[in-house]
Amino acid sequence: MISSRIRELLSQMSPQEKLGQLQIVYRPRHEEAAALVRAGIGAVFWPQSAAASNALQREAVEGTRLGIPILIGLDVIHGQRTIAPVPLAQAASFDPDMVERLARTAAVEARSGGVTWTFSPMIDVSRDPRWGRVVEGFGEDVHVTSVMGNAMVRGYQEQDLSRPGTLAATAKHFVAYGQPDGGRDYNSVDMSAQRLRNVYLEPFRAAVRADVAAVMASFNTVAGVPMHANGALLTGILKDEWGFDGLVVGDADGVANLVPHRVAETIDDAVRMAYAAGVDVEMGGAPSAIAWDASTLDPARLDDAVARVLGVKEALGLFERPYVDEAAERVEPTDATRAQARRAAARSAVLLQNDGTLPLSTGSRVLLTGPYATSTDHLGAWAQSFSARSSSIADALRARDDIEVIVEEGVSFFGDRHDDVDAVATAALEADVVVVCVGEPSSLSGEAASRSDLRLPGRQADLIRAIAGTGIPFVVVLANGRPLVVADWIDEAPAVLEVWHGGTEAPAAIVDLLLGDQEPAGRLPMSFPRSAGQVPVHYAHENTGRPAAVRGTMTLESVDVALEGPANVQEKYTSKYLDLDLGPQFSFGHGSGYATFSYGQPRVSSAEIAADEAVTLEVEVTNTSARAGDEVVQVYVEDVVASIAPPVRRLVAFRRRTFAAGETATLSFEIGPEQLGFWLADGRFAVEPGAFVMHVGGALERTVPVRLQVR
Ligand code: BGC
Repeated sequence: MISSRIRELLSQMSPQEKLGQLQIVYRPRHEEAAALVRAGIGAVFWPQSAAASNALQREAVEGTRLGIPILIGLDVIHGQRTIAPVPLAQAASFDPDMVERLARTAAVEARSGGVTWTFSPMIDVSRDPRWGRVVEGFGEDVHVTSVMGNAMVRGYQEQDLSRPGTLAATAKHFVAYGQPDGGRDYNSVDMSAQRLRNVYLEPFRAAVRADVAAVMASFNTVAGVPMHANGALLTGILKDEWGFDGLVVGDADGVANLVPHRVAETIDDAVRMAYAAGVDVEMGGAPSAIAWDASTLDPARLDDAVARVLGVKEALGLFERPYVDEAAERVEPTDATRAQARRAAARSAVLLQNDGTLPLSTGSRVLLTGPYATSTDHLGAWAQSFSARSSSIADALRARDDIEVIVEEGVSFFGDRHDDVDAVATAALEADVVVVCVGEPSSLSGEAASRSDLRLPGRQADLIRAIAGTGIPFVVVLANGRPLVVADWIDEAPAVLEVWHGGTEAPAAIVDLLLGDQEPAGRLPMSFPRSAGQVPVHYAHENTGRPAAVRGTMTLESVDVALEGPANVQEKYTSKYLDLDLGPQFSFGHGSGYATFSYGQPRVSSAEIAADEAVTLEVEVTNTSARAGDEVVQVYVEDVVASIAPPVRRLVAFRRRTFAAGETATLSFEIGPEQLGFWLADGRFAVEPGAFVMHVGGALERTVPVRLQVR
């Protein structure tokens, strides 16, 4: 619904004033920005302080004929002043409330400086770790991506943009940007309508239902049509079918990029095509919008685009309160936001394996080695360099007085500075335990940072193997922005803690985990492949007609479901690689903690339901250890027979819960049409009759099945 204020403004605006609302310009110098705003440009990138934001806002409100305030946009991706763990790490927490609170903090910090619009969350389902942007999203799973995306939107927007300290959120990148050919950023995407619906569109559908203010078009093509010119998806599905009434923003130069995409001959053609397809705001790119020829745009489409932009400004309360209180600008983290970030970094860590070497005993003599021992590169690929800093693991460990620390880096990330593997191995002999801090510096993930080799860069694996050769107990701390290939050392490592790029307080959190002050309990949001050649490898794959190792890995037999046809037990003619073990190195959902858990037999409130009914699924979970800890209870659905080949498993629910030592609790989940159904290629949602198996457990490889029949 367009408000009377917006209708009134539209009736007064000249075509050029309307066009001005349809562009966001990058951060030019103040004079340039001020001139553009006076000329009618409706949105700018953040000019980096509350005072500068107010100055630009004043040009708009007091220096233009209609006084329409500007939007001030910025990539506030995982924090503004206090940097939280990267989004992929936040997903690993399996804690949407935490994700919401972190987004809330980011919004309060950013809005205090004048930002009103963030280009976050990224909800591109990502199944190819070669793609560097996996760090910015929530991993391979549709449900986790949808839940975490919505949690971020709630954190930024608080369900009411007129409240203080909110940001208009942008769900990006629409759509299927997460599956570029070869994992190469910006590359083409071609896929079926059913996969688009069930995997890539689904988190966006959820974000639209959560009232996200904006959606950003992606750089890729889908079936040959660049998304900035894709009317079938931008208008057909997003706006018409789903009723999205917020604004669609292009990605940086994405409209102008229609020329190198070779679907537009000139920039003018590109602009015309993009707006006709449903882009409302161009980001950067073409010459100033004010110079475009308004007569080439359909007048109704032009008004629709302008109304969407004005609608966001109105919802943010900018017409009433265009300025921020400069004295209240938050330029440094506070004790509270630091504590929040520290806890978040600990909750995002994933214990990949542990033979009991972790947690470390206090009083031990620790040799800290590897490039991440002293590196302060914990902020991640998208942290902007405004004032955020982090310390190093060495600094954080030295701050403890209950542990003796010796630091010797051994190797640098790329083997260009230090290369003293032998010296470290010798030093290790003097230590009780070695902590090897390795990983991928943040420059190797993020935008335009695809890799074809997913192993640790430089000689880091050599360092791990050299330590293994000493026989001294050791722990690997892995800090990285994507799933890595660890096959060349993993079997030699007694304990491995994945800490990602954990933000401002990552080093302190890592020490909390190493010493057992915090319990690691995150789970992988994305599978770790055995080799880059195995990519994409993800848990929710289809079964194929010739699955490898049906026996043992599938559940059909265990739950007594009779399938027609021969059981596929042939070794040779099955879907696999001759030179790799089956499945990923570590699957989605993998992870453990210092506490241990057992599961009872899950129960459903009714063994048979109609397609429109729901059941309650209950499971008893017991902390079988003598320490408190968190468990991430995961519920997967297996649709035994469907009209199109279903994924072998699909996560439909999860809950992270803290258990006291020895505690038993019953957790319950609602399983209904939303969990059991799927999208058909023609856009209908179906719950098909037949058998379903729910698999419940703390990781995919540790689940207990329960059957449900839909009539
Ligand atoms: C990225 C977007 C980002 C934009 C603005 C682009 O290159 O793809 O995700 O929001 O830049 O910085």
